[in-house]
Amino acid sequence: MADIIRLLSENVANQIAAGEVIQRPASAVKEMLENAMDAGASRVQLILLDAGKTLIQVIDDGSGMSETDARLCFDRHATSKIRKIDDLFTLHTMGFRGEALASIASVAQVEMKHVVLNLNLVSG
Ligand SMILES: Nc1ncnc2c1ncn2[C@@H]1O[C@H](COP(=O)(O)OP(=O)(O)OP(=O)(O)O)[C@@H](O)[C@H]1O
Ligand SMILES: [Mg+2]
Repeated sequence: MADIIRLLSENVANQIAAGEVIQRPASAVKEMLENAMDAGASRVQLILLDAGKTLIQVIDDGSGMSETDARLCFDRHATSKIRKIDDLFTLHTMGFRGEALASIASVAQVEMKHVVLNLNLVSG
């Protein structure tokens, strides 16, 4: 019998996995707002164009990231929130799987910028 099984390329596997996390623009918004809260943000600015299909921009005043972390955060299973399995039982964060940004990056054009936050833009 002929062999028909092939291993999926990493890119295809990532895109399929992304579908489980990011079903629609709202899923990306949810993940990024959770990240802002996990980072201790007290102010978050969300900008959407075309209901998030053209642009989803999230600006927060949380902890921020080092340059190295800003690169690593888009890798699958890259997280600052747990290190070992026992950490799952003492979690205080909304995310921990290290999958959201990798998933978003595999299905969207992503840009991360360091900005000087204009706090007057956010009310409430
Ligand atoms: N807005 C942010 N401010 C500071 N650090 C962030 C922010 N967003 C993401 N990070 C960092 O990037 C890492 C990866 O984020 P990502 O959302 O992919 O994973 P996670 O939040 O750890 O888990 P999950 O996939 O369950 O959301 C986080 O663990 C955090 O360290
Ligand atoms: Mg997250």
